[in-house]
Amino acid sequence: MKGHDALGEAEIVAAICALDWQGLTRAELMDAMWAYYFFSIQFRENLLVARALFPGDAKLKALESEECDTANLSPYPGVADEDERLNHDEFMRRAIGLVPMDARRSREIRRHGTRYLEAVRRSDPDARALSIASYERGGLEQVFRAILTAPHWDNPALAAFHHFLRGHLQLDDHHGSLVGHLNTQEKAAPLWLLFHDLLLDCVPCFARAKQAEALPALIVCMPAAAQV
Ligand SMILES: [Fe+2]
Ligand SMILES: [Fe+2]
Repeated sequence: MKGHDALGEAEIVAAICALDWQGLTRAELMDAMWAYYFFSIQFRENLLVARALFPGDAKLKALESEECDTANLSPYPGVADEDERLNHDEFMRRAIGLVPMDARRSREIRRHGTRYLEAVRRSDPDARALSIASYERGGLEQVFRAILTAPHWDNPALAAFHHFLRGHLQLDDHHGSLVGHLNTQEKAAPLWLLFHDLLLDCVPCFARAKQAEALPALIVCMPAAAQV
């Protein structure tokens, strides 16, 4: 959705949910899992920005304890031992590692992820801090439910991702109450947009579908002579 800077948080979340999750193959869902891994890194980093901006906020401190150095997704076979504490992005990193990936494809995806993280880290610190409220107050829950409509979860990495998403649907009920006092003022919209564009970069069929959507509008705009 490059160039759609005026969209609000809810509209961008809706656009993410409207991507064709049900049409994904296993390989494409693995690509989306990679994208979510990079999202989970920025989630942790933005939470730390929020903690630094609001150091006396006990609710954010409680949220940190359930997202970082936590055993609330443990145990999971091949990823986390019984009662093992780890950050949620570390859970994702280990889960991805359960299935080997083509080295060239992995380099491409890492390049997209690195560029995404650099863009997030350059973003306004207020927006980064408040994004946590937007993520936890229903935004991510909608995204998780959309991802879970994908049809294929039967490889070890995807099964672990499924465990991660189902676990978060339970956790985020409570997490929403820990950020209810923060007004995001739509400041998180650019961060949602970066995630949307990361998904398009990492999952080629999402990008192709967006191009196909845009095509009829382009044809209508072309002069009649150019349409032959
Ligand atoms: Fe998490
Ligand atoms: Fe959460």
